[in-house]
Amino acid sequence: MASNMTDQQFTKGFSIFLGLGIVLTLFLILLGNINAGTITERIRAERNEMAASGSTMQHLQPAGQLNLAEPDSTAESTQVATAASVTVDGAQVYQLACMACHTAGVAGAPKLGDTEAWSARVTQGAEALYTHAISGFQGSAGMMPPKGGNLALSDGEVKAAVDYMVAQSQ
Ligand code: HEC
Repeated sequence: MASNMTDQQFTKGFSIFLGLGIVLTLFLILLGNINAGTITERIRAERNEMAASGSTMQHLQPAGQLNLAEPDSTAESTQVATAASVTVDGAQVYQLACMACHTAGVAGAPKLGDTEAWSARVTQGAEALYTHAISGFQGSAGMMPPKGGNLALSDGEVKAAVDYMVAQSQ
């Protein structure tokens, strides 16, 4: 009799133990699925972000690269060298740093394409225009900030933008 009770007690206790084990297992499986879902979502979101921002790697590339390859290298690397040695695009610099004032004539800035406004300035000579654009210039019409306020531009880039503006205004 006493041993029967012990068996029953054991069975009862073991059933509870088994039940708890199953519940815990189900809980862990569920938790794993939730985590896996979240991680997959995060990876997918990151991938979409990279695609949306264009080719991220391209933005990280330097603007130009010296090609020190052997002269007998493949035709492909010769093409790369040609593409990299393309001179500064004045129109692009203009759009980046000068357009804000010079397209609408903000604060007295001579407008792009306004031949009258530019003719007197052009007679100063290109060097004077370059110097004024690079170092800044207080004229009677207003204040031209050094490099249009974009000091990250190189002198060559500013000169290219000046050349572009002059060419567009003659
Ligand atoms: C914040 C407005 C502003 C920005 C941005 C700006 N400019 Fe100007 N710029 C002026 C003003 C105003 C003048 C006219 C100054 C005067 O003659 O009184 C001027 C004049 C000039 C002149 C004529 C200088 C001369 O000697 O007559 C050149 C060349 C010029 N800017 C080039 C540039 C270039 C290149 C950029 C971009 C890299 C640029 N500007 C960006 C306001 C701006």
